[in-house]
Amino acid sequence: MSKLVFIQTLGCAMNVRDSEHMIAQLSLAGYSTTKDLKEADLILINTCSVREKPVHKLFSEIGYFNSKKKAGAKIGVCGCSASHLGEEIFKRAPYVDFVIGARNTSKIIEALNSKRFLSIDLKNDDTEFEFGEYRLNPHKALINIMIGCDKKCSYCIVPYTRGYEVSIPSNIIIDEAKKAVDNGAVEIFLLGQNVNNYGKRFSRSEEKIDFSDLLIKLSKIDNLKRIRFTSPHPLHMDDKFLEVFSSIPQISKSIHMPLQSGSSKVLKDMKRGYTKEWFINRANRLRELCSDTTISTDIIVAYPTETKEDFDHTMDVIKEVRFEQIYSFKYSPRPHTPAAKLKMIDDSIASSRLSELQNFHNLMLDEITNAQNNKIFDVLFDEIKDNKLFGKSDNNFTICVDKNDKNLIGQIKKVKITMPRRLILNGQIQE
Ligand code: 5AD
Ligand code: SF4
Repeated sequence: MSKLVFIQTLGCAMNVRDSEHMIAQLSLAGYSTTKDLKEADLILINTCSVREKPVHKLFSEIGYFNSKKKAGAKIGVCGCSASHLGEEIFKRAPYVDFVIGARNTSKIIEALNSKRFLSIDLKNDDTEFEFGEYRLNPHKALINIMIGCDKKCSYCIVPYTRGYEVSIPSNIIIDEAKKAVDNGAVEIFLLGQNVNNYGKRFSRSEEKIDFSDLLIKLSKIDNLKRIRFTSPHPLHMDDKFLEVFSSIPQISKSIHMPLQSGSSKVLKDMKRGYTKEWFINRANRLRELCSDTTISTDIIVAYPTETKEDFDHTMDVIKEVRFEQIYSFKYSPRPHTPAAKLKMIDDSIASSRLSELQNFHNLMLDEITNAQNNKIFDVLFDEIKDNKLFGKSDNNFTICVDKNDKNLIGQIKKVKITMPRRLILNGQIQE
């Protein structure tokens, strides 16, 4: 009889892909997935450590898993918190059987077969490792194009959890994309910490290729309808990249441009490598080249050196760029990072800046949402919830139609928006 694995994935799309990789390896060893914790032979938690909250959550979560697991079931902790906490996990939660870091997912079978296995090696290189095939969503294929990150943003723990940056050779990426399309993928979603820095370093390959060239190659794959990616870095948004982005029809016209702060002084303190003016210039150029493009962003408020004036610069950029989506966070000090040594801003100030930003953006979002009424979008449907069909427009709006038709999942249809609501645009399929 096959064994069962229960897996909980926290954090970003990269963690989702890492979980898929681990499930693929486990399935080669006779495991299949279960949603029922109590019947699992193996419980995996794939963790995130980008902010402090998810780390607190980790220990309460594994304690809960331990109290509910069936006798003899194993517990494994993986991902970014596993990388940075390492041995400490065994100390705080002695019932954990193994710990494997975000850069060590290929070790899952070895972990399972050893006692108290710990692998958090930041030099491990899985860029050419042949993982088995497994996808949570066969229509939207997540594909890693690089691992790690070479930037040293002062607040960010990722270089200490995922290690230095190595790109995956383009032939491996293209073969994976073709295979995904042959297996029913309509969209591919390219993943990396700094995707538009692709091609700077390979483990063995000598190819001269950048992210724009990779996009051009991928766009030639037959029957591939959509290409998306995350995250590009604003610093590397050169003219070539913006032109390729806007001119290739298969590339989804939605882009994530993590601003972090709108103050050039704070950006310098954060070691982001660009200024307020550069960011606005790139966003405006994108909108000029392709007016339908939607732009999402990440913003950190109350970085230790942020004054009220600096925060106002962030608000200026929001007003100027009119982001369709903002993920905003209060600064959270992270171990190993240079910013962790700085004195934090009073939490009440941080909270009030965060609410000011979010309240302001909600009003802007209402205007953006209302402006979508009567527009027609190409929508890729991906799930049915409450008898309604949900999908994403090419520029990443969530679209809902009142139709309970499973056959439309994985298909792209034209939808006219008839009732736009903040976060969800309701519409009708154009037959
Ligand atoms: N504190 C708050 N937010 C952070 N992020 C990364 N590190 C921190 C931190 N120390 C945010 C950034 C990043 C997103 C994934 O998480 O905005 O883009
Ligand atoms: Fe993803 Fe960063 Fe969280 Fe790691 S720390 S899971 S890279 S968001």
